[in-house]
Amino acid sequence: MSKLAIFGGKPVRSYPFPPYRTLGEEEIEAVNRVMEKGQLSRFIGAWHPDFWGGEEIRALEEEWAAFFNVKHAIAVNSCTSGLQCAIGALDLEPGDEVIVPPLTMSATVVAPLVFDCIPVFSDCDPATFCLDPERVQDAITHRTRAILAVDLFGHPISERLREIAKDKGLYLVEDAAQAPGATKGGRYSGTLGDIGVFSLNYHKHIHCGEGGIVVTDDDDLAIRARLIRNHAESCVEGAGVESISGLIGFNFRLTEIQAAIAREQLKKLPELLSKRRANARWLSKELKDIPALSPPEEGEDVDHAYYVHAIRYDEKVAEISRDVFVAAVRRELPVMAGREEDGVLIRGGYVRPLYLLPIFQQKRCYGRKGYPFTLSGRSEWPNYTEGCCPVSERLHFKELIIHELMHAGLSISDMKDVRDAFFKVWEKRDELKRLSIQDI
Ligand SMILES: Cc1ncc(COP(=O)(O)O)c(C=O)c1O
Repeated sequence: MSKLAIFGGKPVRSYPFPPYRTLGEEEIEAVNRVMEKGQLSRFIGAWHPDFWGGEEIRALEEEWAAFFNVKHAIAVNSCTSGLQCAIGALDLEPGDEVIVPPLTMSATVVAPLVFDCIPVFSDCDPATFCLDPERVQDAITHRTRAILAVDLFGHPISERLREIAKDKGLYLVEDAAQAPGATKGGRYSGTLGDIGVFSLNYHKHIHCGEGGIVVTDDDDLAIRARLIRNHAESCVEGAGVESISGLIGFNFRLTEIQAAIAREQLKKLPELLSKRRANARWLSKELKDIPALSPPEEGEDVDHAYYVHAIRYDEKVAEISRDVFVAAVRRELPVMAGREEDGVLIRGGYVRPLYLLPIFQQKRCYGRKGYPFTLSGRSEWPNYTEGCCPVSERLHFKELIIHELMHAGLSISDMKDVRDAFFKVWEKRDELKRLSIQDI
């Protein structure tokens, strides 16, 4: 075996990985269909037949609802705006608490703040990386009204959260941005709670540039979400919704071109998922033989969507830090065609636990006096101090390795290169012991 690339040896692979490109002739034809019609949007912010959007929007919503076996699908211009529709639909009081995970994209935890509600962080389960139901129970107070759970990295949230929510009279909102097509007990992620949201941004399994879809079986939540999408205050009387609180309207509307692209992308989802799953499962099986690595587990009733392949690393077993190990693996592998500027698509950690962001550390969101955090009436609550979610901190700072080198554009022969890079570094790890991350 040649010298480690980090010491000038020949890397396992130097030519780029193929790109992840889901767009093809079908999407071009769909865009042309809309262009020929000449109607790029048909929404109107008034109670009118066009309140519901144009032909492509309605078709996308119907097809999405049928695919995910849900009563309502509501197309929006991002998952971020969809999460705001979902939280707004719940009609919460300012100061109500929403339990959220610390490991997610910031858009998840900001959605409650938009409606003056307070995010309360609860730690994750180190096996699934999603909210740990036991910790959630500890975080419930008399002000808790909802749990906003995330199917992180494509792993579905725990069904226990449904039971807890039902038992305590809370809403369960699901951020399924990273998990379209994942299932738990035969039910799709996104449909495990009262209301769920998907992302169609260009990093996701399927996309239309930017976009999102809200799903629910609940008629009241659906009409409220549609109102928030489209200038609620002007449409609420026509819609006959009596409880108008929270119904301030935005313009979260998706265009006809994006909807037409999303319709084609949805058709491709099963095939794209099965390729990702095959790659990720192959790699998990191989990497299990490295004692310091724990590849992601899937419970018996789980079908993972593998947004990324998240591996846990045990520094004590390896006797070198995760960051040095990852730096060495990166040097053995190439970039991905089309995303050269992102470097090699493997890294240590995900996002810093979100309570460490300035908005929570300074408890400063609207104005300078701490609103809405002050609504709790207690200066020490919620607890956003470092150490409040130790599992998430340990995962991010020490244990997690995530990579995208199992996407649907790759084959098992590409997987072999990824495996070989890990094994090469593992077998030569003694040589890395003299390095610290500052040396690299
Ligand atoms: C878990 C999660 N929630 C929300 C979002 C926001 O999605 P969007 O970019 O569609 O607004 C993302 C995007 O990466 C995400 O990963």
